[in-house]
Amino acid sequence: MIILGIESTAHTFGVGIVRDSEENFVLADVRTKYEPKEGGIHPREASRFFAEKGPETLRIALGEAGINPKELNAIAVALGPGMGPCLRVGATIARTIASYLGKPLVPVNHAVAHIEIGLKITKLKDPVVVYLSGGNTAIVALVNKRYRVFGETLDIALGNLLDSFARDVGLAPPYVVNGMHVVDICAEKGSRILNNFPYVVRGQDVSFSGLYTAAMKAFKKGVDIHDICLTLREIAYNSVLEVAARALMHTKKREIMVVGGVAASPVLREKLEMLAKRYGAELGVVPPNYAVDNGIMIAWTGLLMYKSGITIEPRRAVVNQRWRVDEVDIVWR
Ligand code: FE2
Repeated sequence: MIILGIESTAHTFGVGIVRDSEENFVLADVRTKYEPKEGGIHPREASRFFAEKGPETLRIALGEAGINPKELNAIAVALGPGMGPCLRVGATIARTIASYLGKPLVPVNHAVAHIEIGLKITKLKDPVVVYLSGGNTAIVALVNKRYRVFGETLDIALGNLLDSFARDVGLAPPYVVNGMHVVDICAEKGSRILNNFPYVVRGQDVSFSGLYTAAMKAFKKGVDIHDICLTLREIAYNSVLEVAARALMHTKKREIMVVGGVAASPVLREKLEMLAKRYGAELGVVPPNYAVDNGIMIAWTGLLMYKSGITIEPRRAVVNQRWRVDEVDIVWR
């Protein structure tokens, strides 16, 4: 069985081709990344970039896999959550090739795909998932055939907090240097935790917008940037840890898996290792190459879904910018 997957939810147009196999399951993995000249991602600009580069990315992937498109069993596509204009490019291309080739189309949730590729790579079985990326902060775990949310951000995502602060005070771009976020690097030289920065955990949810505001205010007052970065990262990471710890206790699961672009942070990893040790849990961190957005995760999740008989008619395959992870029936687990 061979499945082609298309990812286009944010900054990456990715095409992955996978086969149903334990090892060496990747036949092709091509990613075209949109890099904004300044500021954050501009959805419309990114979508234009995707429309321009998409067909070529697809061609390269098919060449890399060395297969005839007729050999594909199905086309999988990320229909959400993400940025509308970006999602629509991937969906349009996927619907077109599925119709043209007469192949089934599989609708994949991007967050579910992050988890499924993480499970495939880390070989964990049933973890509490800490999902941290530019656009998402959520602690989820599989209960009764759904990835239930045991806590999430009430406003901005952790990655967004770090990136926005770094950008607005002139630490970035680039956002990551030698595998470390610039806020992490800056924090290494910090010597004290500042007072009056809000640590917000409400019930099981976290909130970072007040933290961002406090950090910017301190910066404008001329407070040492290293201390600000140290305070920012400690509060942000620790609040995520607190929620993850409660999810572990509540679900009684014995594995933790970190997925998403922020998973690469060595500082966060160290904290999670301590947490895992304390609760006798095993920690799995998805390596950066698979933790960031890519087409492989869509193709792999598409494969699991297709094997369970989940397909969608192309005309009904519309994007959903706010498609939540807990709205998907995980029938294959
Ligand atoms: Fe993502």
